Amino acid sequence: LNFLTPKKRSEILELLVTGLKRLEYRGYDSAGVAIDGANDKEIALIKKTGKVALLEEAIKEISEALYLNELTETHCGIAHTRWATHGIPSEVNSHPHRSDDHNSFVVVHNGILTNYKEVKVFLEHKGYKFESETDTEIIAKLIYHFYKQHPNFSFRELVENVVQQLEGAFALCFKSKFFPGECVGTRRGSPLLVGIKTKTRLATDHIPILYGKDHRPHGRVEIPSIPRSGSTEFEPLEDKQVEYFFASDASAIIEHTNRVIYFEDDDIAAVRNGILSIHRVRRGMDDPNHREITTLKMELQQIMKGNYDYYMQKEIFEQPESVVNTMRGRVNFETKTVVLGGIKEHIPEIKRCRRLMLIGCGTSYHSAIATRQLLEELTELPVMVELASDFLDRTTPVFRDDVCFFISQSGETADTLMALRYCKQRGALIVGITNTVGSSICRESHCGVHINAGPEIGVASTKAYTSQFISLVMFALVMSEDRLSLRKRREEIIDGLKNLQEQIRKVLSLDGKVKSLAENLFNKKSLLIMGRGFNYATCLEGALKVKELTYMHSEGIMAGELKHGPLALIDNNMPVIMIITRDPVYVKCINALQQVKSREGDPILICEEGDSETIAFASQYLEVPRTVDCLQGILTVIPMQLLSFHIAVRRGCNVDCPRNLAKSVTVE
Ligand code: G6P
Repeated sequence: LNFLTPKKRSEILELLVTGLKRLEYRGYDSAGVAIDGANDKEIALIKKTGKVALLEEAIKEISEALYLNELTETHCGIAHTRWATHGIPSEVNSHPHRSDDHNSFVVVHNGILTNYKEVKVFLEHKGYKFESETDTEIIAKLIYHFYKQHPNFSFRELVENVVQQLEGAFALCFKSKFFPGECVGTRRGSPLLVGIKTKTRLATDHIPILYGKDHRPHGRVEIPSIPRSGSTEFEPLEDKQVEYFFASDASAIIEHTNRVIYFEDDDIAAVRNGILSIHRVRRGMDDPNHREITTLKMELQQIMKGNYDYYMQKEIFEQPESVVNTMRGRVNFETKTVVLGGIKEHIPEIKRCRRLMLIGCGTSYHSAIATRQLLEELTELPVMVELASDFLDRTTPVFRDDVCFFISQSGETADTLMALRYCKQRGALIVGITNTVGSSICRESHCGVHINAGPEIGVASTKAYTSQFISLVMFALVMSEDRLSLRKRREEIIDGLKNLQEQIRKVLSLDGKVKSLAENLFNKKSLLIMGRGFNYATCLEGALKVKELTYMHSEGIMAGELKHGPLALIDNNMPVIMIITRDPVYVKCINALQQVKSREGDPILICEEGDSETIAFASQYLEVPRTVDCLQGILTVIPMQLLSFHIAVRRGCNVDCPRNLAKSVTVE
């Protein structure tokens, strides 16, 4: 906006597309851009399924219509790269979304709206026709609706009204043909920042916040009329020749400026006539007077991975947020209820089934093992857990009244997909549990749950595992909703889910300690990981992480099987990790520990915080917070993710792309 020197329209598009490329690691199933139309100022929208490079080609194809050589002094363009949450990847589902055929308002959105269905119904009653399956489209329609009601409102005031109707997570940027050259951005739950580029050094290091009067709407959806906040605009920058770059991540803008403001939830930032103003509808007790402009010292490469050196490391540390995203809009911690919109209608049918079958490969298979016991407990149905390849090898009998779950991060794993088709052919109900909307498994399932963990780039799966785990726990909770005898159990699990975010943060703070353990382990040949009950899956998943990342031999051992063979491996040289938490198999685990110790083994323990009795048995240990037994595996697997990561780094292995492995294995 208000360019330092007039820019060609081609440069604006290039700037937007380059920004998208920098963000492509966050999601890449489709992309789109909105700029001013050349003649009549109607907004031009260009969208494309697939990678940003395809959008770039599409722009080239219609370059004549875009008058790319025309010069412009003030302009607002918005662009987006999508990782589908609602609606398959397609042109119509990709962003920017629009209010009407004339593209009066366009919006890009990062996040998930949980109340979009209600708002959609409201707007449909008002006569709005929706073209996409996304949650985002309601935002574009809603702002137009308010504009028609209040034509004298400023762009920012319209956005203020819109966001008060939204629930869930969002970072938004708006553009409108009624407000040329203006841009409004806001966030709640999803990140948003603005980069500021000026010719000379900025005259200020902060932007004041303008607070409105508290005009909280009464009730949701229908707002008859909202008073306008009386705040005056402020000119924070002396030099009006400013370029502003709104982005959800600094990587998109770092090549233009390193001066940025990170917005807080419910900040509404508006740019008009080269002036940036930051508004908040109401003032809280400790709210500051301004937002700081910070100077980023990072390199582009670093920012893509945040402060992390590897994607896998970033994804491990994202888990406090990714688990919340999996539960968002599904678990109500107050009413202690769980709703899974994607399978809701099929629940009565699932309740009548003969058995549940959980099928997957690798880490996804482990998430099934992790939750099998709880599923058996809460559904009282037989639960089979199967490796997709073996399931097919056995030509396992499948019946019409079976319910088959296909768990897959990518949604494309060939073995899993073939097992799905096999079961579908035999008339079973197919439920997909994936992280990739629009993937083959999604499309071919009858119903399903999107785990919403966000894109996972590291080949070794981490955050997808914990989100798959939680998705299956939520399913178990849904299935047992009307069981009075299970009420207490369900409530303790829901309380457990509520505390997970904080507890995961605590586990992640063990990183330094885990790193020093890795120092002692990195040059060993083998690593055994033992446990049983709810923690057995952690042993398998931990061993898989060690194998994948470090190329060391590692085995997850069911502690109950110790005396049937693995005990022969134990001596004072064999590294062993034992997972022992205060669950129903605690005493049995302690027995196993004694057996290992009496063969001169010295296991590293992963145990519960403050469990001094257990800690007394070990010279090295990691304490994780206590949660309800069936969720403990989420907290015990994270130290294993960190450990395999640190060993891999120490051994000089390629953390994000281990040798011989692929993220998505689309061949049998
Ligand atoms: C590959 C990956 C693993 C993953 C497995 C299943 O082997 O390297 O990390 O667990 O596939 O992938 P999916 O996408 O189906 O979960």
